Amino acid sequence: MSTVAVIGAGYVGLTTAACLAHIGHNVTCADIDETKIAQLNNGKIPIHEARLLELVQEGTAKQLLKFVVGAQQAVTESDFVFLCLPTPQRGDGRADIGAVLEVVEEISPIIPPRAIIINKSTVPIGTNASIHATIERSDIAVVSNPEFLREGVAVTDFLQPDRIVIGAMDEETGERVAALYAEINAPIVQVDLASAETIKYATNSFLATKVSFVNGLAAVCEAVGADIELVTRGLGSDQRIGSRFLQPGPGWGGSCFPKDMQALVRIATDAGYEFDLLKAVIEANEQQFDRIVAKAEALLDQDLSEKNLALLGLTFKAHTDDLRNSPAIEVAQRLAAKGAILTAYDPMVTSESGIPQEIRLAASMEQALTDSDLALVLTEWPEFTRANWARFISLMEGPRVVDARNVLDRKEMVELGYLYDDLGRT
Ligand SMILES: NC(=O)c1ccc[n+]([C@@H]2O[C@H](COP(=O)([O-])OP(=O)(O)OC[C@H]3O[C@@H](n4cnc5c(N)ncnc54)[C@H](O)[C@@H]3O)[C@@H](O)[C@H]2O)c1
Repeated sequence: MSTVAVIGAGYVGLTTAACLAHIGHNVTCADIDETKIAQLNNGKIPIHEARLLELVQEGTAKQLLKFVVGAQQAVTESDFVFLCLPTPQRGDGRADIGAVLEVVEEISPIIPPRAIIINKSTVPIGTNASIHATIERSDIAVVSNPEFLREGVAVTDFLQPDRIVIGAMDEETGERVAALYAEINAPIVQVDLASAETIKYATNSFLATKVSFVNGLAAVCEAVGADIELVTRGLGSDQRIGSRFLQPGPGWGGSCFPKDMQALVRIATDAGYEFDLLKAVIEANEQQFDRIVAKAEALLDQDLSEKNLALLGLTFKAHTDDLRNSPAIEVAQRLAAKGAILTAYDPMVTSESGIPQEIRLAASMEQALTDSDLALVLTEWPEFTRANWARFISLMEGPRVVDARNVLDRKEMVELGYLYDDLGRT
């Protein structure tokens, strides 16, 4: 058992803290947000994440997990300090590492001798080495341990990852960090600091590129009469390619892909290489939002003005409550700019804070669809797939559906009488 501090109780920090306690470590998790800590100390979690509440309650009951306000309180007896802090996009595309630097400055004078700072935040390449160079503690090591969890299945991803990447300045430090994960059965990729930091950006950029590729392919399928589902089945069976992340959609988004893509483009430019491929992928993603809008327009005689649109789904994907950089919101804003009247339903969104003011929230799918001229499925919530679409047809003013997630049964929708469009299916 090691004594561990986790700084930041967001999606990554809270998952890390709960999972490290679950595998037997003694964990103190800190955040500056007093409300969040109070909520956690009352046995509640501030986010929607499968299995997380159960693990938090298990950790607290076993007294292996506690929550405190402020990093300083958490670190004084910790041999390992995980940084799970936000690194949002700055105006110039670079990552803002202010929170990381601030916490390092705060904790480095007070952490125990030979402690290791383990950075899970996604930071520009070279950040961890420069942190190490600036702290005035020669006994403290800094390690890059990028996180690859997916929201919605964060706990499972943490406990059963494809790999654990550990970037360290020397092998012994890397091994001390690897030992923390001894209970987790996953290959350890032990590398240098810069390579670990690069792996994180490379992973997200590659995945975003894969999604944009398949979105482009769906457009080609529509034009040539091929079916994207059959095409991706054949494509994904090639083991060099793989079948995951080959699902067309309204564009990629979320709290990581957009900012990490922009950051890698900036990192490359700053280092003297113009990463034109990634710039084109970012542009293609913007076009994808526009394509969804164009599909809605095509079903409404090219005029969205004063049309009542029902938006099904607002979160950036299903099984999370995260609205950050959601493609659904991107599409909604474009629809609103064309004069559409928007009513949205999302099973995880019950408050209008955090969503654009043009969107009115409905309490149910039925309510959103009632009197609407067209519905857009923007998040792949199972509820939308399971719904009784035969019943909805009479609720709608016009039975038109743009399925931007390809989750409804195309044949059935057409047979029911909907004017239906999706992405690249025949
Ligand atoms: N969300 C994901 O799916 C995911 C996946 C992999 C990697 N990452 C990366 O992990 C990092 C954290 O992401 P996240 O989604 O967990 O962010 P988040 O915004 O959900 O959580 C960050 C937390 O840090 C807290 N915080 C901010 N400043 C602090 C300070 N000075 N002291 C203590 N706490 C402080 C905030 O209050 C917040 O609770 C980012 O770099 C992100 O890119 C995120």
